[in-house]
Amino acid sequence: MKEREEDQIPHHRQRRVSHVVLKLAKPITYFLLLLLTYTLGYLSASSIGNATSLPTTRTRLRPTRRIKDLKLDDFRVSNHCSNPVPSDLVRQTILNRIYNARSPFVDFPPDHVSSLVRPQRIGGWGSNGAVFEHLIERVKPKTIIEIGTFLGASAIHMARLTRQLGLETQILCVDDFRGWPGFRNKFKNIKMVNGDVVLMYQFMQNLVSVNETDSVLPIPFSTGSTLDKFCEWGVYADLIEVDAGHNFMSAWSDINRAYRLLRPGGVLFGHDYFTAADNRGVRRAVRLFARVNGFKIILDGQHWIIDST
Ligand SMILES: C[S@@+](CC[C@H](N)C(=O)[O-])C[C@H]1O[C@@H](n2cnc3c(N)ncnc32)[C@H](O)[C@@H]1O
Repeated sequence: MKEREEDQIPHHRQRRVSHVVLKLAKPITYFLLLLLTYTLGYLSASSIGNATSLPTTRTRLRPTRRIKDLKLDDFRVSNHCSNPVPSDLVRQTILNRIYNARSPFVDFPPDHVSSLVRPQRIGGWGSNGAVFEHLIERVKPKTIIEIGTFLGASAIHMARLTRQLGLETQILCVDDFRGWPGFRNKFKNIKMVNGDVVLMYQFMQNLVSVNETDSVLPIPFSTGSTLDKFCEWGVYADLIEVDAGHNFMSAWSDINRAYRLLRPGGVLFGHDYFTAADNRGVRRAVRLFARVNGFKIILDGQHWIIDST
């Protein structure tokens, strides 16, 4: 019996020890996990810090091909373009496709709009530059596409010039008529209704005020989707002016899409070759486009012209 009690003592102790170990195991595990998490967090944070502060650790992506090896086909924007509709059917084609075959100027302005627009509010940038006269005299365009119209200053100037030359020209003005974020800081008198600016209505009113509603049409959509649709519908032009978004990506996209819409002998030109806006995005896009295609750039005042002859 005694022997058995002595035998039991170590067992008893063993149980107590394992009980204590079990009791401590949980907090120790938590502590170790916490330590591990903290250490890993510290290490990863310091390695991020190193990457941003040491430019030498940045990876430089190597271009897969050189610019001169690229072809316009690499930048294709849609596969389907139709044969051109005759110039004298361009206006009706647009009315049918966009306006249920009815001019948007019929009964303009409706009551709910007339209180929102001023009788005339025209303003732009370099919108009367000599380039318009030079190109219209040279090309004698039947169709002009303007990419970026705003209040219509340059469109109205072109409409006047074509009229003076006795041409019957249709001018298609592609603009989403949203301006750009914050544009009303400068153009406070363009009204806004529930967050919607009335830029298109003011543009239309401007055309009414100069009696040019038969020669000009607003195309109130994004430039990318509109120019692709024009190609699909066979709506091409003799003169195309690019003056919408000024960052490289916008200008590059507009220029490439617009070029496909030129009729034989047509001319592509645009504004803001010299502007510093958006890191000189327009100039970079024009230069790259000319280089990729082997075209020359001609400068006329603030405007660029692509010489594709
Ligand atoms: C500089 S203004 C055009 C000025 C006009 N050509 C003139 O001289 O009077 C640029 C216009 O492009 C339009 N625009 C910019 N990006 C556009 C886009 N992606 N789609 C449609 N319109 C756009 C703006 O709404 C704005 O009215």
